[in-house]
Amino acid sequence: MDPNKKIIFSGIQPSGSLTLGNYLGALRNFGKLQDSYNCYYCVVDMHTLTVRQNPADLRERSYALLALYLACGLDPDKNVLFMQSHVPCHAELSWILGCYTYIGELSRMTQFKDKSQRHADNINGGLFTYPVLMASDILLYKTDLVPIGVDQKQHLELARNIAERFNNIYGDTFVVPEPFIPQNSAKIMSLQEPDKKMSKSDTNVNNFILITDPADVIMKKFKRAVTDSGCEIVYNEAEKPGISNLINIYASVNDMSREEVMKEFEGKRYGDFKIAVGSAVAETLDPIQKRYNEYIADKAYLDGIFKKNAGIAREHAEKTIKEVYEKVGFIVY
Ligand code: TRP
Repeated sequence: MDPNKKIIFSGIQPSGSLTLGNYLGALRNFGKLQDSYNCYYCVVDMHTLTVRQNPADLRERSYALLALYLACGLDPDKNVLFMQSHVPCHAELSWILGCYTYIGELSRMTQFKDKSQRHADNINGGLFTYPVLMASDILLYKTDLVPIGVDQKQHLELARNIAERFNNIYGDTFVVPEPFIPQNSAKIMSLQEPDKKMSKSDTNVNNFILITDPADVIMKKFKRAVTDSGCEIVYNEAEKPGISNLINIYASVNDMSREEVMKEFEGKRYGDFKIAVGSAVAETLDPIQKRYNEYIADKAYLDGIFKKNAGIAREHAEKTIKEVYEKVGFIVY
């Protein structure tokens, strides 16, 4: 860890497969950050238990997430890729910070309200205190920057409030984290309902492309993508959300501007464009999938990375916990 570099922390739930949206919007850019920042990427397995999980699937998806991160170009020697449950400090800090978080604040979290509706038969305590655990993840590492999507902004805001509240009572302890939107990260929308973000938890599989989707599936999904009335391939988010999304995807995978894409497809038909976008995406994902398949077949290698990085993360986290325990008045040896 270079003390002169800022700290980035991101948590990813192993609760489903990652999509093209995750890749183009976030993952693809993470590799570029590894030399300029100290980066922590945490597989937040504890967070997933707020909704029912199949144990065998959860374990497999945790490995899959690490394999995918490696396949996307994250160097395991330059980034701390680790599992939340391997570092007990996350749960420990979560208890402490829970005592500095108000029920009123937690009740206002829109994700809690959404998930309570969707899982009405299992509105558990963990679902309610989820943002406290997330604040602990972030604050444990004295994080400066948190790459997040808009859906997590409210949770980050709460983490900032908790940090400030604690600092006000006990003196400077936590760094108050800022949101971080990586440069040129594309926002990818659903292929069937382009006014919605592409999401892995969508019930309609035609809405998203998974990073691990085979080429024929990718082609099929793009051919089915909704387009708009008219026939010109021009960018207009309000009137042509479907075509605009496809333009963004094509531009993003080919590192082109929207104007260049429009020029290339001037006078071409929607159908031809959809096939071109599908092929470009399949081609981009192909080498990632090959690397992914190699990594996922080597559990011993993945375990080695998890073990080594758990040690590195723990060292940093334990320092913070000790500091917090001392401040609140525990006897610390
Ligand atoms: N709540 C985040 C999500 O659902 C995952 C998460 C947990 C996280 N801890 C975090 C994200 C810390 C950023 C930082 O996407």
